[in-house]
Amino acid sequence: RRVNRLMVILVVLGLAGCAGDRSILDPAGQAARDVVLIWWVMLTFATVVFIAVISLWLYAFKRKYRERTLQQERRIARRWVIGGGILLPVFSVSALLMFGVPAGKRMLPLPIGQPVEVIEVIGHQWWWEVRYPGAQGGEVVTSNQLVLPAGEPVDFHVTSADVIHAFWIPRLGGKIDMLPGRVNVIRLEADEPGVYGAQCAEFCGAQHTHMDLHVEALEREAYEAWLEDRQSERLAELALAGDDFTQARETFASNCAVCHSVAGLSSATIGPDLSDIGARPMLGAGVLPMEEGAIQYWLENHQTLKPSNKMPSHDYMDTATLESLGAWLESLTP
Ligand code: CUA
Repeated sequence: RRVNRLMVILVVLGLAGCAGDRSILDPAGQAARDVVLIWWVMLTFATVVFIAVISLWLYAFKRKYRERTLQQERRIARRWVIGGGILLPVFSVSALLMFGVPAGKRMLPLPIGQPVEVIEVIGHQWWWEVRYPGAQGGEVVTSNQLVLPAGEPVDFHVTSADVIHAFWIPRLGGKIDMLPGRVNVIRLEADEPGVYGAQCAEFCGAQHTHMDLHVEALEREAYEAWLEDRQSERLAELALAGDDFTQARETFASNCAVCHSVAGLSSATIGPDLSDIGARPMLGAGVLPMEEGAIQYWLENHQTLKPSNKMPSHDYMDTATLESLGAWLESLTP
């Protein structure tokens, strides 16, 4: 009975690992379903092979010694080599290829007789740049936040600005390297609107662990509205609004604007674009949730929260300056 109870606990714990916003065992799109099917097929097959090998091993211990001629020994050996060394691998690898080849093909950006949304994702140490080159009215740019239309294929064109990163949304499938100087393309689809977790999947330096990407799938209409809100003229209007923020804008222009862009004020591309930062769910690529006062806290403590990130420390600025800068940035909510 104790063994039974232990089994139940193990199964419950095992199943608990199947949920969560980054579980490949909880697919939310076709590419991820393909991956999980192959995973289950491989697990099942590996279990069968494991049991077979252990059984043969135990059998070899128990078997009594039998006198055989050299010819008989050779015949038996040949049977094992042909069966276990040739037929079994040919059969099992072919079976896996039958699943794997069509699944891999579905993730390729092949023409499908309809336009496919293109989203560019660029890895940086240690944040994500996301661009929408096909947005009506001009390209839209954001950071550490990926919004995609649900229920349709999307081609992700991924690359890197520095070292190798990897793009992976476990519940939608894939995982593809982001290589400097090369654009890789992967086609993914989210069945339903929802929020999906993602994380850089290739060790890329000290803060690899703090390289989260917040992924949200929206219905087509909501997606287009989201893009429209991020047109550069609209964002520029937002950035220039409010007389209270004149001082903060000046601080930004004479300090932050060297690296960061805010529509209407600066177009630097060294650090993340901040034009809609107030509307983003998190700061520092997953270090802090976005809430009131979070940006000021980040500006004061970012080298402790995310050591060796590329932003210089702000020790030379006083608290009031950082507070007003934070309040202005938080107001950038389209
Ligand atoms: Cu980027 Cu790991």
